Amino acid sequence: MTLPSPQTASAAAQLPVALIVAATHTSLGIGRAGTLPWRLPTDMALFRLVTSGGPAGGGSRPSSAVLQPAVVMGRKSWESIPKKFRPLKDRVNVVLSRTGTDFGPGTYTFSSLSQALSALSHTPLPPPPPQQQQQQQQQQQQQQHPTCPIPPVSSIYIIGGAEIYAEALKHPATSRVFLTTVYPADEQALDCDTFLPDFRGTGEWEQKPTSDLRRLLTEMECHDAVALIPPDGDRVKENGLEYEFTLWERR
Ligand SMILES: NC(=O)c1ccc[n+]([C@@H]2O[C@H](COP(=O)([O-])OP(=O)(O)OC[C@H]3O[C@@H](n4cnc5c(N)ncnc54)[C@H](OP(=O)(O)O)[C@@H]3O)[C@@H](O)[C@H]2O)c1
Repeated sequence: MTLPSPQTASAAAQLPVALIVAATHTSLGIGRAGTLPWRLPTDMALFRLVTSGGPAGGGSRPSSAVLQPAVVMGRKSWESIPKKFRPLKDRVNVVLSRTGTDFGPGTYTFSSLSQALSALSHTPLPPPPPQQQQQQQQQQQQQQHPTCPIPPVSSIYIIGGAEIYAEALKHPATSRVFLTTVYPADEQALDCDTFLPDFRGTGEWEQKPTSDLRRLLTEMECHDAVALIPPDGDRVKENGLEYEFTLWERR
């Protein structure tokens, strides 16, 4: 379904927004021929745990325990997910497309990132007393999204690909980047054709220590994800590649 949104982009600041991405160390390669250039099971496990879990930008709402996070992706990344795994479960799936209007059950489509963030951020706050709940929810939806049935979400994760990451990095609502840095022995041999803009040297973003990443995931109650992070300085080694989990925050 395509969802018109009358809201403004500034409203997106109400909910935490984070990028989550795996990229090569030097050139920030993220894709090859429409798919991932690697198979990194521990990274996939962390991705699933984080994007199904708590608030992405550190904010929290009393009702977040009952809300799901949203994952926002470009049409090509949506198509790169094997059909049996999509929509990604336990998450509100948002697909961005300027041309497509319906990507099937369990998806919400917007024609711009700002529209998507704006609609997602106008979610009902903590539930009212039970007797008023249904009536108030109906009123809120009518006032905020006359034609928009997108459910309330706890947080927003931008999950790719390059086009969407590039736009999201410039968006003021994006406060965090969960960056898995991949260290191939020969980066060129991976033959990436899709790249993340190099946000690391812009001065806008600061890499946080691994202890901060652990603390954040603990606050998010993503305890299984914390367990996946090796001790400081150590890298995960899988399928001939080494990689590490890093956290970046907007200064
Ligand atoms: N390493 C990682 O963590 C990671 C994560 C995700 C994806 N990837 C890889 O990245 C590659 C795909 O990235 P990509 O950049 O080619 O494609 P993409 O960003 O996934 O999708 C691009 C499409 O999204 C739509 N779109 C882009 N910007 C939009 C906007 N502002 N508003 C509305 N719609 C917009 C357009 O769809 P329409 O053409 O339908 O209009 C566009 O063709 C794949 O290789 C994938 O495996 C890697």
